Amino acid sequence: MIRALLNIAKVGKGSLVVDPFLGSGTTAVEAILLGADFVGVDVSPLCVKLSKVKTTAWRSADKIKEAVQRLLGNPNLQKSDISLDNFSGGVREFIEIALMVTASDVEVRDRDESRYLAKNLEKMLESVIAMKKAVDEFGLEPGEPRLVRGDVRNLGKAKILPGSVDAIVTSPPYSIALDYVKNDKHALQALGEDLKAIRKDFIGLKGRGAKERISIYNEDMRVAFDQMALILKPGAHLMMVVGDATVGGEEKTSTDEMVTWAETSGLLLERKMPKIVFGLYNIMSDEKILFFRRKG
Ligand SMILES: C[S@@+](CC[C@H](N)C(=O)[O-])C[C@H]1O[C@@H](n2cnc3c(N)ncnc32)[C@H](O)[C@@H]1O
Repeated sequence: MIRALLNIAKVGKGSLVVDPFLGSGTTAVEAILLGADFVGVDVSPLCVKLSKVKTTAWRSADKIKEAVQRLLGNPNLQKSDISLDNFSGGVREFIEIALMVTASDVEVRDRDESRYLAKNLEKMLESVIAMKKAVDEFGLEPGEPRLVRGDVRNLGKAKILPGSVDAIVTSPPYSIALDYVKNDKHALQALGEDLKAIRKDFIGLKGRGAKERISIYNEDMRVAFDQMALILKPGAHLMMVVGDATVGGEEKTSTDEMVTWAETSGLLLERKMPKIVFGLYNIMSDEKILFFRRKG
């Protein structure tokens, strides 16, 4: 779907694409594979690290393969058997992410450490090899990714210049955001991070009770729209996957409200498309794709 949105925005070699809610880097991977340069911003250092590995590990695919095969030679591999000091560059970053994902599997989901460490290393290696193969077989020239730990409410600090961006393709957190900070607690602690400081800037997690949370969320999202409009070139696209989130069946931030904020920031709504959400247990039953263009 992200690839389709980038194609509609006519992104290609020489374009600059931004995702100011980077997450796990889905837009990042698709944008660079199309040859575009990319800047991703996220308040979570874990997302920044993960996206770095997703967008750059293919360059070290051979070395990563060798390291993973060596590690998997131990049929009962544990996290404590691996010292990151034995690795460097892209291999080290890859293994660090595999260790963090495994820490979450073990500590949050109570899974078997040795089995999941092997499984994560194998799965991650598979996707690195697939990306390298795509680059080689199709003769792709991936664009440059720049991944920044920062805040959508201050994109200048991430050194994204006003009027410089060809497309923004993104999906913001919902006003009843999943508590990512709690979910990723183990990985963030492993990175030596201060969870309180991250929470302070995390859109959708601030405030007590539904009412206060939504009102802070709405204020933050207004600023986010201002910032996104500011960095776009005149006529450039902002494409956004958003949901009509409800809290306790009552309060909510509607996509219509978002459209009014966007319009105040200088963006024109071109199209609003329903996005079908698969999965029975998904709380977001109603997602939309909003297509805007920067005025001018
Ligand atoms: C819905 S997720 C994005 C999902 C992403 N499209 C993907 O493919 O993974 C929203 C992201 O916004 C980030 N976020 C929350 N507050 C932020 C802020 N103030 N500035 C930048 N990113 C923020 C969260 O860390 C999270 O990764």
